[in-house]
Amino acid sequence: MRDALDPSAFRSAVGRLASSVVVVAARTTEGFRGLTASSFTPVSWEPPLALVCVDAFFRAHDLLVAADAFAVSILSDRQEFLAERFAGRGPGSTGRFEDVPHDLAPSGAPVLRGAIAWLDFRRVVSYPAGDHTILLGEATAAQEGGGSPLLYHAGRYVRLSR
Ligand SMILES: Cc1cc2nc3c(=O)[nH]c(=O)nc-3n(C[C@H](O)[C@H](O)[C@H](O)COP(=O)(O)O)c2cc1C
Repeated sequence: MRDALDPSAFRSAVGRLASSVVVVAARTTEGFRGLTASSFTPVSWEPPLALVCVDAFFRAHDLLVAADAFAVSILSDRQEFLAERFAGRGPGSTGRFEDVPHDLAPSGAPVLRGAIAWLDFRRVVSYPAGDHTILLGEATAAQEGGGSPLLYHAGRYVRLSR
């Protein structure tokens, strides 16, 4: 068997992917919790499934993964400050929604105003995967807004130029 790749080489190489930036959030047993994520990926059209990978070191990991439902807000290129806030560069994981305009998706999970789209999910299953948990959900509602996506590439926020 070949040796595993050095984790920093892996992170650096996959960092060359350009990813959309989302905020994954849920109404948990201890209130709203959410985090910035670039690992959101659609999986299936019928049924409509998508996954997101949540770091086990995220302080609210257990609460988020245990929630019956979660919502994903796809951030616009005007929401970099929210990406930073929900990445923990600001209030701790408990206060992230304070003063941030949001609405409630049908599941009761919070979605951020100004997002270019949001989707609401019923949790289907969660799988442990290394130092992350893969959270798989079935979409139950979706709404699109306007604007351009916020992207992340090689450790920096970038915008579409067109
Ligand atoms: C652009 C960007 C993308 C991120 N993507 C993910 C991700 O897909 N999954 C994840 O668990 N954390 C991701 N993070 C990190 C989490 O947002 C961060 O670890 C978390 O909010 C820390 O919360 P805590 O300080 O309460 O533990 C990302 C951060 C940034 C800035």
